[in-house]
Amino acid sequence: MQADLKSSKNSPLPMKFSPLVDRITGEGSDAWQIHYAARAAQERGENVILLSVGDPDLDTPIEVTEQAIAKLRAGDTHYTPASGRDTLRSAIAALHYSRSGQRVGVDNVIFLAGAQNALFTASLCLAGPGDEVIALEPLYPSYPAMLEVSGAHMVRVASSAARGFRLELADLEAAITTRTRAIFFATPNNPSGVVFSEADMLGIAQLAVRHSLWVVCDEVYAGLAPQGRVPSIAATLPEQVVTVSSLSKSHAMPGWRAGWMVGPKSLIAHAEALAMCMLFGLPGFVQEAAITALQVAPAAESRIREYCAKRRNLLIATLKDLPKLRFNAPDAGMFILIDVSATGLSGQNFARQLFAAEGVAVLDGGAFGASTQDFVRVCFATDETSLREACTRIRRFVNSLGTA
Ligand SMILES: Cc1ncc(COP(=O)(O)O)c(C=O)c1O
Repeated sequence: MQADLKSSKNSPLPMKFSPLVDRITGEGSDAWQIHYAARAAQERGENVILLSVGDPDLDTPIEVTEQAIAKLRAGDTHYTPASGRDTLRSAIAALHYSRSGQRVGVDNVIFLAGAQNALFTASLCLAGPGDEVIALEPLYPSYPAMLEVSGAHMVRVASSAARGFRLELADLEAAITTRTRAIFFATPNNPSGVVFSEADMLGIAQLAVRHSLWVVCDEVYAGLAPQGRVPSIAATLPEQVVTVSSLSKSHAMPGWRAGWMVGPKSLIAHAEALAMCMLFGLPGFVQEAAITALQVAPAAESRIREYCAKRRNLLIATLKDLPKLRFNAPDAGMFILIDVSATGLSGQNFARQLFAAEGVAVLDGGAFGASTQDFVRVCFATDETSLREACTRIRRFVNSLGTA
């Protein structure tokens, strides 16, 4: 027996993985190389500035942290229901109603480990091998892996830079086939900051009805939009619209992994079965803290909106006179897309050279799709001193480039 085991260790046959592993090796991962290099340089004590990731330097609202600590001390460390506690689901339902006008009950809500986990859950429950899922571009770089993990094929529908990355409904319609099951998009968008208008959303709703499609609205940045809401079709199409969001951006709580999905009861029941095998319930003290976070949502959202508006204005005021950098002010969110084509560099080379020359990390726009290859994404959600210094360095770098 021992001898057999020893020989199997030397087996020439490679061990096999599921085909799934190929579907989840993310495209766009190259774009993060600069970010990781910048983080490593920062840890070594080097003078680098990270404008590459959407994680504001704000603390979790203090009452939320206090509640988590109190619940931890009180022993709230046992198993919890797979779809989240009803008190939390009901608080999420109330927030969802205030944002969308759609009245939902606890059976329409599931608490998950962030919007990321909610999108993954939606993807697995809504489509599979042989199906197509449309994703509107520019898109958050996790989408390809998250959507294709199900075995479905992701079809990109790009919005053009020339039209400010607004929705082009005719292009969306043209991409729909008999295999299409769902349309996924983020509003406000990451990285463009575009918020889809009422008319855009109505157009999407009409297509969804005509072709029996799911519409998955990633509203992770909704709390950062004016009045903390974006046009929604959830109330219009309650049986087809799935809304995903979280506390990560609105409350500066990305590390808590507190997010959710709201949709028809049948979908939530399937999501619960998936959550049962995937998570088996999320921490009780996090759920209780999330209830507190939802109670203070208006104040938390005003805080992040003011924080972002101030920094967005600062960045725009500081860089707007550079003719080689072109940009539109985002409708909402913590990012700005800057067209760097007039420097003669692609987004990727601009990001690489800026980091090498000035130690400022921004993200190559190509990570979000071909339509943003000439852009870099800059996250302005950082402290003002660092942002001012980053702008000085970006100016110096752009001025050093000569004429394209
Ligand atoms: C568009 C978009 N969707 C989802 C997520 C994931 O958010 P969460 O932290 O809630 O998982 C992000 C994170 O940056 C994002 O930008």
